[in-house]
Amino acid sequence: MIKRTTKAIIAAMFVTAGLAGPTVSQAIAQGEPNAAIPRIEAKNGKHRLIVDGKPFLILGAQVNNSTYSTAVLPQVWSVAHDIGINTLEAPIPWEQLEPEEGRFDFDYVDALISQARANDVRLVLLWFGGWKNGGATYAPAWVRTDTRRFPRQVGRDGVITRGLSPFGRATIDADKRAFLRLMRHLRETDPQNTVILIQVENETGTWNGPRDYSPAAENAFKGQVPVALARALHKPQGTWTEAFGVDADRSFAAWALARMVDEVAAAGAAEKGLPMYTNAAASNPFNPAQGAPFASGGPDWNSIDVWKVTAPNLSFVSPDIYIPVPAIYGKLLDYYARPDNALMIPETSNEGQVSRFVWLALGKGAIGFSPFGVDATQHANFPKGYGSMILGATQAYGAKFNLLKPIASDWARIAFDHPTWGAVQDDKNTTQTTTMGRWRITTWFGAPEYGPPPKDGSAMADPKQLDGGSLVAQLSADEFLVTGSSSRVQIELAAPRKGELGEYLSVEEGTFVNGAWMTRRTRNGDQVDWNLNFGESPFLLRVRMHSVR
Ligand code: DGJ
Repeated sequence: MIKRTTKAIIAAMFVTAGLAGPTVSQAIAQGEPNAAIPRIEAKNGKHRLIVDGKPFLILGAQVNNSTYSTAVLPQVWSVAHDIGINTLEAPIPWEQLEPEEGRFDFDYVDALISQARANDVRLVLLWFGGWKNGGATYAPAWVRTDTRRFPRQVGRDGVITRGLSPFGRATIDADKRAFLRLMRHLRETDPQNTVILIQVENETGTWNGPRDYSPAAENAFKGQVPVALARALHKPQGTWTEAFGVDADRSFAAWALARMVDEVAAAGAAEKGLPMYTNAAASNPFNPAQGAPFASGGPDWNSIDVWKVTAPNLSFVSPDIYIPVPAIYGKLLDYYARPDNALMIPETSNEGQVSRFVWLALGKGAIGFSPFGVDATQHANFPKGYGSMILGATQAYGAKFNLLKPIASDWARIAFDHPTWGAVQDDKNTTQTTTMGRWRITTWFGAPEYGPPPKDGSAMADPKQLDGGSLVAQLSADEFLVTGSSSRVQIELAAPRKGELGEYLSVEEGTFVNGAWMTRRTRNGDQVDWNLNFGESPFLLRVRMHSVR
């Protein structure tokens, strides 16, 4: 758990327990810097983010890597608003923050925060410190040019790499010092917590081999696995090879990187105890690494256990998912949605068709979902499979986020306390089913909005045009909240008794206003006879079921 100041813990207790205490605005007015500081709550294996004392769902967007200048910020807000975000994820590069050793420049941080406030969005700051996608490209020149003081990782072939060694004591200390100054600045200048969450480093992991082979790393690799780690993972005590066998190199890399990130996070959290996480270049769990090191040792699905034990100052680790294949996407979400780890997707493709995965992620309890590369700076990652923020993408994300934005807090509250389920369309239009209490929920894809659905799998979908998904929460035994896009949701008795008929008793279209359900219209007749049909513009339904005999 992240350490907080005693005052902040007391403030959080007041909010949690609803006891008499200073309100958030009173506390801010009284000069309490960490008033109602954002935090992660956990219960029964579920998580939620609390911001301003209320549940908060991150409907995010991450800007392109080079969008960190006051001059280009105007190219962020219009797209962000079109998509309907409530949170912007933005990098804070070390080279910009500390261009000369000991000289800090907060101009950009201040501009970003004040513009975020003016645009009514919260911020997730991404600390691009010494480690960014396995390289050191965001470390200042005074770090990158001094390989003696700040040693690089060495590849398996003995060649120096673009990454810094996580065994460089001076490197970790310098990174920590800079990060600590950033967090101190937030404590001093952001009492209202416009910044709600911090990402520490970015997609750590080695690409030139499964681990660092620098002299310091070689030395450590010959040593023993820390007792606490071996014990927690039920491994035999001994060397890395003895304990982890074929996974020794990757596990060692994960331990070294997690230890480094944790130390940096702890230094920053001591200044301001915002929740912190780090992200993984998530690989295909069905085809591990295809023989090549894939950001080895980063918090990928196969290294989560090592990270959870070694980095207790991170609230969670999270996957960047750029493989928009439902089976792979779902499997990755399942890896990260653990009782000890909040599920959050800090990066996913900005292609319109990928927006449908928001239903799946929320159904699995995600506290946030953010496409990457969202701004109007005209950068496109298309050859890697994700394109620029073309109109279609903005519309596809916008349709879903703009429905969710006004109910983001309600959804975070409901999902924490009630069963949820999400479904997503694949290119075979495979029908998906779950059971909630006595009801079976089925989501169909490729069905017209009226009339019987096609036979399962009989209508193939264009893989570039996929938009289908659904999201269901069970509010009480016979009551559901349902939404979705380009899909049909059917609710029926899972196991009817002889002669028993399950029916829609009422289907209300509406939303939440100040936490209370408001019906806009009641759906019936054509809008219900063929179940609950969603087009490209989602809407929210409160559905009451009953059964008769
Ligand atoms: C994942 C990284 O975390 C991002 O910063 C960015 O480099 C994307 N990949 C690719 O555009």
